[in-house]
Amino acid sequence: MGIEREAADGRPRDVAAAVSGPGWAEVAVPASSGNLGAGFDALGLALELRNTYTFEPSSHDHIEASGKFADFVPRDVRRNLAFRAFRSLAPTSAGPYRLHARRIIPAQGGLGSSASAIVGGLVAATLAFDLDVPQDDLLRRAAELEGHADNVAPALLGGMVVTVPDGPDLAWLRLEFPATVGIVLVVPGYRVPTHRARQVLPEQVPRADAVANLARAALMVGAVSQERFDLLREAMTDRLHQPYRAALNPALEPCMAAALEAGAYATALSGSGPTVIAFGPRDRNLSVASSMADACLDSGHSCETYVVSAAVEGAHPTENWRTRTRPADL
Ligand code: HSE
Repeated sequence: MGIEREAADGRPRDVAAAVSGPGWAEVAVPASSGNLGAGFDALGLALELRNTYTFEPSSHDHIEASGKFADFVPRDVRRNLAFRAFRSLAPTSAGPYRLHARRIIPAQGGLGSSASAIVGGLVAATLAFDLDVPQDDLLRRAAELEGHADNVAPALLGGMVVTVPDGPDLAWLRLEFPATVGIVLVVPGYRVPTHRARQVLPEQVPRADAVANLARAALMVGAVSQERFDLLREAMTDRLHQPYRAALNPALEPCMAAALEAGAYATALSGSGPTVIAFGPRDRNLSVASSMADACLDSGHSCETYVVSAAVEGAHPTENWRTRTRPADL
């Protein structure tokens, strides 16, 4: 079934008539870091920090949430991204649903929490209604809902993903990210909504800046593929978005300097911020994390620090769903 065969309401035609499948689904979807420095809107990496989305039939459409960032989950089903994504694929004959979102990915942190929700809703619909939607169609649909593809692609596919946003098809390439690289995230206490962080970017950029970034984004793909960690710092140096976003991200420069000083290979703003991501040797994780946290606090901002792995797997059904065990607490 392809999304090109859509009914007028945007749903795939062949699911508009009948409901099949187990009717409920539970999906775990990773966080992601977009851009990776020079790869603005084109590169993204899945991170092993997962939200879980459970959809099950209910008496009426409603949303519940738990987890550290539960307060950020919109309870209005028309505004909730996971619910909207689920409904966009669900058969018209599907009845009311309850969504339970377990949120541990920091909200508005530059770690792909909205991408996780969109991918969670779409993948849950394919499981609940036994829909055979090609991966490319899911990715295209997710990118349309999100507005850019660099977070939804790793959230769906895992690993590091290159996406080409323009053109009729959304071309993508997935790479394994080396497991030997340690990943540190410092999430400052202030929030930076993505729409605001995109408003500050210029519509046009100098050709020299465009060339500097395209060379480095290409270098990033090669450096990751060949495990040339000595090239990561150069590869992640950006001229297209970070300089313009510095004012919105006052802890960025001090955190980046501290990461490099503590032995990280490279560091960048994660997505549109405020999280700062650093890559380094795994045995430097703790010193990189504590140096970055100290720098953030010294700049006057509270923060939380995470040491994570790259997520090899993208969105996947939970063990509960695989064993067809409905969660007892719902
Ligand atoms: N590529 C997007 C941006 C990621 O930088 O605006 C948003 O998290």
